Amino acid sequence: MTAISLKQEKIPSIAFGTWSWGTGANSGEDIFGNHLTEEELQPIFERAADAGFTLWDTAAVYGMGASETIVGQCIKGRDDIFLSTKFTPGVSEEPMEASLDQSLSRLGAEHADIYWIHNPNDVEKWTSELIPLMKSGKVKHAGVSNHNLEEVKHAASILEAEGLQLSAVQNHYSLLYRSSEEAGIIDWCRQHEVVFFSYMVLEQGALSGKYSASTPLQSGTRRGEAFNVEVMEKLDSLLEMMGTIGEAHNVEPAQVAIAWAIAKGTVPIIGVTKPRHVDGAAAAADMTLSEQDIKKLEDAAKATGVDIKGEWEKRME
Ligand SMILES: NC(=O)c1ccc[n+]([C@@H]2O[C@H](COP(=O)([O-])OP(=O)(O)OC[C@H]3O[C@@H](n4cnc5c(N)ncnc54)[C@H](OP(=O)(O)O)[C@@H]3O)[C@@H](O)[C@H]2O)c1
Repeated sequence: MTAISLKQEKIPSIAFGTWSWGTGANSGEDIFGNHLTEEELQPIFERAADAGFTLWDTAAVYGMGASETIVGQCIKGRDDIFLSTKFTPGVSEEPMEASLDQSLSRLGAEHADIYWIHNPNDVEKWTSELIPLMKSGKVKHAGVSNHNLEEVKHAASILEAEGLQLSAVQNHYSLLYRSSEEAGIIDWCRQHEVVFFSYMVLEQGALSGKYSASTPLQSGTRRGEAFNVEVMEKLDSLLEMMGTIGEAHNVEPAQVAIAWAIAKGTVPIIGVTKPRHVDGAAAAADMTLSEQDIKKLEDAAKATGVDIKGEWEKRME
């Protein structure tokens, strides 16, 4: 059982995500239209880890094991990687320990540094299943994802009753989707020494600056459908504002979105698919946005009228 909190661990200011890594169901192919091979991903991983980005987020459901398998290949021979993976209630009907064992076998690891309950289906049941895994050391830190404030507090209290701690919350949080902030989850995390991880900070590429109404995301993919031409047209003015602020810092719009998520006191999880994304993240980690820039960005995001959430999410309020 770990005695130190996740806040005391030396975690990087940005985590990297691997939903795009691998093919098959619910993979980089379906969601992003990406077809990334291990040969292309290994150099991205090495570049990141060597630059100190050692926290990697995956899930058993990403490509139904494909993402974890690639991460497992990448981490071979390294002992400096902080592994974050997930159990998805409803997809995995088996006991949590069996699912964790399969994840660890794909990852080639003995324990998960952070193990997440991916959704709030039956908080009581699944949080309780974490307890023996934490006590045995197979899970170092516990996290919950897509939980609202009441569910986060419920999970924390179940662990506390056993002398354990909820270490992290992972929810969708971007300039376009601030539901966790509005619902007080980010503040609650700050007050309770719980790390808040933001996912989809770049809205799967829609806020990267690479795509627009005239250069749209691939249709037939999750991101292409969520951010079709009509939605991308509404993002024009926001992307322009991100570009202007980025120019002043000598970075691309994507880095402005990442720096914003850090400035809001969260750890962004960025889905990297190219070596240059690692360099971009490093630049974002080094830059500081002014209060004025943050206000301009948030006002421009609000003015788009785009309020977008994943099909798997519910409102946090
Ligand atoms: N807990 C949950 O329910 C949940 C849900 C969603 C995501 N997540 C986690 O959060 C991670 C991040 O989310 P995501 O991958 O869906 O989307 P994301 O991070 O918002 O966007 C990823 C896309 O942005 C582009 N990109 C990344 N870094 C960039 C950079 N520095 N500069 C320019 N463009 C950049 C890439 O587009 P191109 O490939 O087109 O270049 C990439 O595919 C996931 O991988 C996963 O680990 C968790």
